Amino acid sequence: MQKTVVIIKPDAVKKNFIGKIIARFESEGFKLIAAKFIRLDDEILSKWYEHHRHKPFFPELVSFMTETPVAAMVWEGEDVIFKVREICGPTDSRKAQKGTLRGDFGEDIQRNAIHASEDETAAKKEMNLMFTPEEIHTYEK
Ligand code: CMP
Repeated sequence: MQKTVVIIKPDAVKKNFIGKIIARFESEGFKLIAAKFIRLDDEILSKWYEHHRHKPFFPELVSFMTETPVAAMVWEGEDVIFKVREICGPTDSRKAQKGTLRGDFGEDIQRNAIHASEDETAAKKEMNLMFTPEEIHTYEK
């Protein structure tokens, strides 16, 4: 079964949206198979956001992502990568429709409440960066 990594970012953690976000994914029938709070640091963020490292917004992004611990999770389900990103809405929360997580809970392009893996390659990389194999449960036999 396909897996994706979701991070509830510091803006949403501060505003108590963790439960609402988890409930939304559970209501879609996805299974939560790993979850923890983690305090990100420069080292992990440089690997996580490798493709953004030279962008002008990177220092501000690191500062934002270290404001609080983040809630990191792995969700499992059919076509979960695409479906989760659809539920999240576009990166810029100001352009996200109401009813999407970023439309309902995000603020702008940076403080956009949630991260979700872009594709299977990213999901694998992100799972390895955030979790040990023992931390990931599976309902599959
Ligand atoms: P996400 O798509 O999860 O991963 C990259 C993050 O960088 C993105 O969410 C935003 O939080 C942030 N980001 C992307 N583009 C910009 C931008 N133009 N200005 C500030 N932050 C950005």
